[in-house]
Amino acid sequence: MKSQINIGLVGLGTVGTGTAKILLENRDVIARRVGVPLELKRIVDLDVTTDRGLTLPSGVLSSDLPGLLNDPSIDIIIELIGGYDTAKRVMLDAMAQGKHIVTANKALLAVHGEDVFAAAARAGVDVGFEASVGGGIPIIRSLTEGLAANRCVSIVGIMNGTANYILTQMLKENQEFEESLAQAQAAGYAEADPTFDIQGIDSLHKLAIMVSLAYGTPVNVKDVFTEGIQKVTSLDIQYASEFGMVVKLLGIARLHEGAVEARVHPTLIDNHSPLAQVNGVYNAIHVVGDAVGDVMLYGQGAGALPTGSAVVSDVIDIARNIQRQASGRVPPTSFPLDQRTPIRIRPMEELTTRYYLRCMVLDQPGVLSKIAGVLGHHGISIMSVIQQGRQKGQTVPLIIMTHRASERSVQTALQEINQMSSVVSQPTTLIRVEDDGR
Ligand code: NDP
Ligand code: HSE
Repeated sequence: MKSQINIGLVGLGTVGTGTAKILLENRDVIARRVGVPLELKRIVDLDVTTDRGLTLPSGVLSSDLPGLLNDPSIDIIIELIGGYDTAKRVMLDAMAQGKHIVTANKALLAVHGEDVFAAAARAGVDVGFEASVGGGIPIIRSLTEGLAANRCVSIVGIMNGTANYILTQMLKENQEFEESLAQAQAAGYAEADPTFDIQGIDSLHKLAIMVSLAYGTPVNVKDVFTEGIQKVTSLDIQYASEFGMVVKLLGIARLHEGAVEARVHPTLIDNHSPLAQVNGVYNAIHVVGDAVGDVMLYGQGAGALPTGSAVVSDVIDIARNIQRQASGRVPPTSFPLDQRTPIRIRPMEELTTRYYLRCMVLDQPGVLSKIAGVLGHHGISIMSVIQQGRQKGQTVPLIIMTHRASERSVQTALQEINQMSSVVSQPTTLIRVEDDGR
């Protein structure tokens, strides 16, 4: 048993600062939970001059990364710099020296997780990554431990705070996309490169991590269909409300016979559904297990303190393991490496769902029947139509809600519709509909 556990932190940005604050300000309660104090012994960042509102003992903050990695007294290293190359090197070097790792780096884990987990197994160390999905929401521990008795039927969730914040502002404040994005960046929710948030890549990374844990399989992110919110307009948000729906960027995984469906895209959901109530930077993840039924986790999906809360929970977990000499008890991959088997990710063409289509068409007789004809030809049945414009000879939105149809048929029909250049003025907007979480 150690008399204290020493922590090294790399990256004192948004999450690093939140993490340090929690370790310092909640030091007493954390020490009681572990049984011994956790000492934030070294912090490394490129910038050692900016005031981050922390009171650190002299000498703790430096830019000496090798000094931190080679400090034999450090038990746990927290990587919070983000990105791929340096972050991966920090983790691998630290593990090679027998140090345990905590990270929030979903991008790295989704793409290079297999290398990280193999290195951890070789070194016999723990890797904590609770903060990588859902910010402060304890979804990783729920999937690996709390729900371990279940076959996972589905995971459906709002996994990106920035995108949810933008969609919420567009709906509630009638704001433009750019204004909402700038606010999310100023609040520290967005990734350094916000295209990851907007284009759905951050949600893809999080979904890939969850699918990997829930189904005990490596996931190639290239197999997961991903579409962002950049083409969602306030017009679509308004029409969605006419159908009693809201637009959310969802990550969706569902178990099928011998395969898993996994996709990320803007989705229309009923505005009375639980996920529709999740606004701003909040995330929510709805898991259905075959034994437990519905479980929903809700909380702040980004930001310094919520994410720091998840980071520190991993540090506490690992510190407890160190004290019990029980490192590796819970495999970071949820299933031991030799129990994982690759599972087929269903191609998107196999999806069947309802679709919202917005065609920008010339307001002239016969246009609706032409478009309906193409849809009918491909076996796509129309549930309802809205065409409010009356601007003869000008372009107006024609909104079509379909019954359930196959993605393959809808994409083929849209190719035909988009080629009707005499009546259709721009590519049709398609938003998939999710009827319930199962
Ligand atoms: P920030 O950009 O705010 O912080 C990263 C920090 O690391 C910066 O201070 C940066 O310094 C420093 N840094 C970069 N490279 C090095 C290096 N080689 N050596 C030392 N320090 C370095 O990012 P976040 O805190 O937002 O994100 C950190 C991680 O947490 C990422 O993986 C992110 O995906 C993840 N995450 C973030 C959430 C959030 O709400 N922000 C939520 C969940 C996860 P400098 O600024 O000088 O370059
Ligand atoms: N940029 C991410 C988000 C941070 O907005 O959700 C949390 O992972």
